[in-house]
Amino acid sequence: MKFFLDTGSLDEVRKALPLGIIDGITTNPSLIAKSGQSREATVEQMAKMVNGPISAEVISTDREGMENEARMLSKIHPNIVVKLPLTREGIAVCRWCYAQKIKTNVTLCFSANQALLAAKAGASYISPFIGRIDDTGHDGLSLIEDIRQIYDNYDFPTEILVASIRTAVHVREVALLGADVATMPLGIMEQLFPHPLTERGLVAFLADHQKTLS
Ligand code: G3P
Repeated sequence: MKFFLDTGSLDEVRKALPLGIIDGITTNPSLIAKSGQSREATVEQMAKMVNGPISAEVISTDREGMENEARMLSKIHPNIVVKLPLTREGIAVCRWCYAQKIKTNVTLCFSANQALLAAKAGASYISPFIGRIDDTGHDGLSLIEDIRQIYDNYDFPTEILVASIRTAVHVREVALLGADVATMPLGIMEQLFPHPLTERGLVAFLADHQKTLS
């Protein structure tokens, strides 16, 4: 499973790089707004820092506006993936991007039928938001299970890019379900490393080693 960093912050990218596990980056207008930099400048810098897919989201909601932004964003760097909202217009533009060979990430996905539409439109990635589904009292993970089964039934190449990941448990569960990508904040990524038994075991190993030196 690929790990993407979900951020608008270049500083966070710098902090994450030494972990050696970053396969790409996702941004969205809210994350970019926090960065204080323009979308274009941020994703251009990110593309120079991480050799992997960098998602940049359109702001337009009309077809012409989204097509123009997709064209512009895709020219910033070959690794830029254009993020489109899962709306009628967004799906139509996704199809247009497919024909133009522009990679797409269809975002704000909350149902299996929406994910089916994105795959039929040739989306490179689909972004189901599991945390926001959980927030409504429903089970975000069951959506991943449904999308995985539907995509496998018909060999859709669209990659399942799970977003709105809020816990380390989410990461484990989506990996068990066969998601292609998990995008998460650096804080969640950091939570994947520690285990008390690992720390305790290492202390014991080093203490025993010390005994061999005396
Ligand atoms: O990439 C989508 C992600 O940033 C949304 O996360 O926690 O705002 O639902 P969240």
